[in-house]
Amino acid sequence: MTQSEKDQLYNWHPYTQHKTVGLLPTIVKGEGALLWDDQGKEYIDAIASWWVNPFGHSNNAIAHAIYTQLTTLEHVLFGGFTHNKAVELSEKLLSMLPANQKKIFYSDNGSTAVEVGLKATLQYFYNKGVKRTKVIAFDDAFHGDTFGAMAASGITFYTEAFQGSMLEVTRIPVPTAGNETKSLEALETLVASEQYAAFIFEPLVQGAAGMVMYAPEVLDQMMALCQKHQVFTIADEVMTGFGKTGKTFASDYLTHKPDIICLSKALTGGTIPMAVTTFTQEVYDGFYNEDVNKALFHGHTFTANPTGCAAALASIQLLELPEMQQNISRINAHHLAFATKMQSHPKVKTTRVLGVIFALEIVTLEAESYYGTMRNKLYAFFIENGVILRPVGNIVYILPPYVMTNAQLEKVYSIVEAAVEMI
Ligand SMILES: Cc1ncc(COP(=O)(O)O)c(C=O)c1O
Repeated sequence: MTQSEKDQLYNWHPYTQHKTVGLLPTIVKGEGALLWDDQGKEYIDAIASWWVNPFGHSNNAIAHAIYTQLTTLEHVLFGGFTHNKAVELSEKLLSMLPANQKKIFYSDNGSTAVEVGLKATLQYFYNKGVKRTKVIAFDDAFHGDTFGAMAASGITFYTEAFQGSMLEVTRIPVPTAGNETKSLEALETLVASEQYAAFIFEPLVQGAAGMVMYAPEVLDQMMALCQKHQVFTIADEVMTGFGKTGKTFASDYLTHKPDIICLSKALTGGTIPMAVTTFTQEVYDGFYNEDVNKALFHGHTFTANPTGCAAALASIQLLELPEMQQNISRINAHHLAFATKMQSHPKVKTTRVLGVIFALEIVTLEAESYYGTMRNKLYAFFIENGVILRPVGNIVYILPPYVMTNAQLEKVYSIVEAAVEMI
């Protein structure tokens, strides 16, 4: 039996209908932007393995930091103890984040980073005896798969089976070009009602919706409205963090800074699962009390795992290298040129670029569903041609590792162009 056959026998994969999907390639090796399967087939990882891996697969510097940490202190509980790497990483993150961020809370993945942010805002008001139990989020948002994160997420097929079991979230339109006023007006009505604890959003780019983009200016206006009415703002930078938008954080494009920021994915360069939720002093102070019941009662066994912290510190060092920053600008310039080229293609409805993120929408006669026929046809075409891309309906996006070479990028573009022709 092959590994892929055994996999089919034993494993249950995420977002996968096993009845129709068939055998999955067995990946045995990764290096830079490339992966290889057990048949020797090479793949270009053009989405950095779900956006986690900016510095390339099997990175030696991160591997070395992990090995050193594993053989010094692999793990210690973070309840009742601290350790050097958590202190070092928090100090480093706070020096990079917007200056209003003062406290770091560790967890394991993007969804838990969001849960912590949401829970903190709800409990903040509970601790004060104020009834603010609802949350505001955008249409088509994606914040993760745990219950709080799901409640905040608006892509319905991820969440429809669980409606009725979730936190109360009110959705507002995404302020894409032309929809700014509608979105601002909807937000203004809600924040004025004094029922909402928080407004959660993916700043500037909604990743899972298909890299849907909107301008920093309108988000700034939205943040100002929230601040005026004491509704906490939660920037979910799980996807956008660590350089993806061309700045270290998408929040760096904003004048008004969020109260809470969620980070994960690229935090450890795609090695150890880890996340942080960062807070202002004001949020933290809402829990700082003689009364133990006012503490934030949230924690995970692997909170602030030292090996994860060491991997994150090594990843941040890589991100800060001048050549890594040049890579981000280089990829952005290539994306812009490719967007200009594709924009005039009769089968292309629109293109968009921010930082290393590129997306194009293919013209369709009818609305394409997220995992519909066009998506499946495109996905199969990309895999057949050795490029890992996961289209969203009729949207093809590229989010490469920063180390992807120009030749690899050009190959990805040519396969995308061929796919547009083929469809
Ligand atoms: C913006 C955003 N938030 C949260 C998540 C959830 O992260 P995780 O899959 O690590 O739980 C994702 C995942 O894609 C995301 O894009």
